[in-house]
Amino acid sequence: MTVTDPRLVGAVDAARTSAAGAATSTSAAGSIGYDVDAVRKDFPILARTVHDGLPLVYLDSAATSQKPLAVLDAERTYYEQHNANVHRGIHVLAEEATAAYEATRDTVAAFIGATDRREVTFTKNSTEALNLVAYAMSNAETTGAEAERFRIGPGDEIVVTEMEHHSNLVPWQMLARRTGATLRWIGLTDDGRLALDDLDSIITERTKVVSMVHQSNILGTVNPVERIVARAREVGALTVLDGSQSVPHLPIDVTALGVDFLAFTGHKMCAPTGVGVLWGRYELLEVMPPFLGGGEMIEVVTMEASTYAPPPHRFEAGTPMISQVVGLGAAVDYLSALGMPAIAAHEHAITTYALDALGSVPGLRIIGPPTAQDRGGAISFVLTDDSGRNIHPHDVGQLLDERGIAVRVGHHCARPVCLRFGIPATTRASFHLYTTTAEVDALVEGLHGVRRFFSR
Ligand code: ALA
Repeated sequence: MTVTDPRLVGAVDAARTSAAGAATSTSAAGSIGYDVDAVRKDFPILARTVHDGLPLVYLDSAATSQKPLAVLDAERTYYEQHNANVHRGIHVLAEEATAAYEATRDTVAAFIGATDRREVTFTKNSTEALNLVAYAMSNAETTGAEAERFRIGPGDEIVVTEMEHHSNLVPWQMLARRTGATLRWIGLTDDGRLALDDLDSIITERTKVVSMVHQSNILGTVNPVERIVARAREVGALTVLDGSQSVPHLPIDVTALGVDFLAFTGHKMCAPTGVGVLWGRYELLEVMPPFLGGGEMIEVVTMEASTYAPPPHRFEAGTPMISQVVGLGAAVDYLSALGMPAIAAHEHAITTYALDALGSVPGLRIIGPPTAQDRGGAISFVLTDDSGRNIHPHDVGQLLDERGIAVRVGHHCARPVCLRFGIPATTRASFHLYTTTAEVDALVEGLHGVRRFFSR
């Protein structure tokens, strides 16, 4: 299906070739875009049917994205032709595997605007990347003076926000418990934005680290990172950005963002599961204590003690997830071929369309920003029937599934957000580079059906 909605910037003029090779094109209006129909052909799973022949409408990309053939092929070719352990062998396969693994480090560094490839550490996912920083901070207690910047203890404070995904909340709660530091957070406004009026009294001279989500997985909100980073810098605090939901959808430049660390995960950006990234400023990584100990992260080992390798290997203990890293490289190439500005423009148009279309469903309340400004394509909502009674999101999700529509229901691993809004759960539709207006229309029609079912 070719997207014809004029809000889908430039799609009509976009190349009709495979997306992996599909260069971005310039429309008459000067906007860049791509042909969504051609792109969808790169994702075999999007063509499948469910429940005896219903077309799949996949609106759960915030949970995990689908994977293009280029990524599947990259992993398969790696295993068919190059499989060996990395950084250990001197035979041909070992050298090829190491080269493929290390090539992704260059690819990822360029993708996020990093100036030094050594600033890219491969992890299992965002959760591990965030835990890496949090454990490094408590490990600083038993490290030399060079790790002073990471030391934390009683009297020190850790600042997060109330819209954190559990991955960027629980590790900091645990760090506070391990070290005696205090956890504080920036609250939310009623329309799902950060309440920044009290920022200067939340981030203070006591703050050692500020860790925040870039784009909320439940509210869709894109946060004003620069403003918070500016305050954190004033007080000398480290800054960590959870880019799990932003790196897959927006052009990212770590230099422009000004943060010290950025965590993200491959599986939400068309790469395989089991691979993520921690980017950090080299001068910080150089003095940051390790998290996991083992092979590959060492320099010299005796029975009594060990010295550690420089970054990034200091933070990549053990045999890494090699084929997944190769797949991540292919995914980044795929996203780059489409162009992140074009992907962001497409998703912005879909989000605008969806917010408008969802407004036609009686009894539907968006939890999060009501407009597409500074907002991504994860839309959470609650629904009532004709009598104003809540329809439980699990029922909504099940009835939508019966129509072949995949959404996520629950607290989306961000339970404090549900507590803040006084709801047990939401239904969430989430979009990606391959989502179409027709899929949004199917969702809206499905929600009308859910209300009809409950209003009988
Ligand atoms: N973080 C993922 C989500 O938002 C799992 O669904």
